[in-house]
Amino acid sequence: MKSRSEAVSIVGMGYVGLCTAATFASRGIRTVGVDIDEARVEQIRKGKAPLHEPQLDTLLKHAVKSKLLEATSDISSANDTDMTFLTVGTPSQQDGSIDLSYIKNATEDLGNVLRGKRGYHLVVVKSTVVPGTTNGTVKRFLEQSSGKNVGSALGLCANPEFLKEGTAINDALHPDKIVIGSNDMKSANRLTRLYRKFYGPKLPPVILTSPEAAELVKYASNAFLATKVSFINTVANIAQQIPNVDVGTIAEAIGLDPRIGSLFLKAGPGYGGSCFHKDLQALINYSQNNGYDPTLFRATEETNEQQANKVVDMAETLLGSLSNKKVVVLGLAFKKDTDDIREASSLRVISQLKKKGAHVIAFDPMAIANTKKQLADQISYADDPHSVLKGADCAIIMTEWDEFRKLKPKDFQPYMKTPNIVDARRIYDPKEFSRLNYVAIGLGASR
Ligand SMILES: NC(=O)c1ccc[n+]([C@@H]2O[C@H](COP(=O)([O-])OP(=O)(O)OC[C@H]3O[C@@H](n4cnc5c(N)ncnc54)[C@H](O)[C@@H]3O)[C@@H](O)[C@H]2O)c1
Repeated sequence: MKSRSEAVSIVGMGYVGLCTAATFASRGIRTVGVDIDEARVEQIRKGKAPLHEPQLDTLLKHAVKSKLLEATSDISSANDTDMTFLTVGTPSQQDGSIDLSYIKNATEDLGNVLRGKRGYHLVVVKSTVVPGTTNGTVKRFLEQSSGKNVGSALGLCANPEFLKEGTAINDALHPDKIVIGSNDMKSANRLTRLYRKFYGPKLPPVILTSPEAAELVKYASNAFLATKVSFINTVANIAQQIPNVDVGTIAEAIGLDPRIGSLFLKAGPGYGGSCFHKDLQALINYSQNNGYDPTLFRATEETNEQQANKVVDMAETLLGSLSNKKVVVLGLAFKKDTDDIREASSLRVISQLKKKGAHVIAFDPMAIANTKKQLADQISYADDPHSVLKGADCAIIMTEWDEFRKLKPKDFQPYMKTPNIVDARRIYDPKEFSRLNYVAIGLGASR
């Protein structure tokens, strides 16, 4: 007898949930995507992604058309699936600690549904949660609301996600590892079986461990990457004080040492995005509550915060007072190929520029709509990278979009009042731009 193929449900159709759902469906796995946001569900049903992520629209269209992905706001659909991934948000509270309210609500809703289910169901925590959450809060809420026990009728795993916005689909299709934390082999085997089906012979290394260790892997990974960014930004700020030194050369040279590695050694305006700051704050808070103060991670965060001031200082050095100056911000998204502005360094820079009395006008190929939701008319917006520069006193490159990278000195100079360029992303060749007033993070003055 042919066994029924495994079906999964995913609760939370944000970046992680939707990309996971689209890739599962693309590999023939029947997937139900659940979200409380009706408008989002409606959009997904039409095969249209509610967020910008390369390749996602195409995958989503196929997934919906083939009926392998069904979007719904009714969590009871999870009943007809074999396992449920929780991919709801885990934002910060005021004090930096993790806000588990979405996890609690989603777990409770799911448990209520599973109360009536016959047969085994596996619950997988994919959201980033501090160590102990899966075995603590999630297990407690799940058992209470379902009236069932984890370990018998219910399976439970922690399975953190490592995809990156901007390359999320590719990351989901080709991860470097899968980390599964569980208390029992049945849960771990069920999840491994799903991934074996998904990846076939290309199954990446699977790390089987405890839920607490799996949870910490995710934080350790983000803390390391954030620290690497703050490290190279620190070196950049030192390099900038030294004539004839470019941090790019330093990064290239140290990156050749395999113990260091070349990735994440790009100096810039500081990290942004929905994860690094939030996860570092959660980890610091969690650790302090357990009696250990992780000084290194606090320094990583402080360095990142200060890096935005550094960018504004560079503009001030070129312009003198920023008061009443027209300063153009090229790029709002926290990195290229996304419309996400959460914790973007552009926002920190804009806030400083405003404090100093500058008139800020911004352009971004994708992120203007999201920025308007947050900053409204605190700044002005332009429709293209050329009109934005008209009469500008200074342009600051804040996102490394390919279309900014293509710009030449002739795209700046004739339009600007004074061609002052602060290249916070280091995307231009300093020699080519030397006839403009060009400065870049980590670039010492040439003699
Ligand atoms: N965004 C990333 O790059 C990334 C990468 C790795 C891990 N993570 C982690 O994954 C988790 C999700 O992140 P995200 O960026 O996808 O979040 P997101 O904010 O983009 O999406 C969360 C979704 O969950 C929905 N939701 C909230 N409560 C719900 C409920 N009770 N039932 C159904 N849906 C509900 C929201 O409406 C929203 O659509 C977080 O813990 C995050 O730290 C994110």
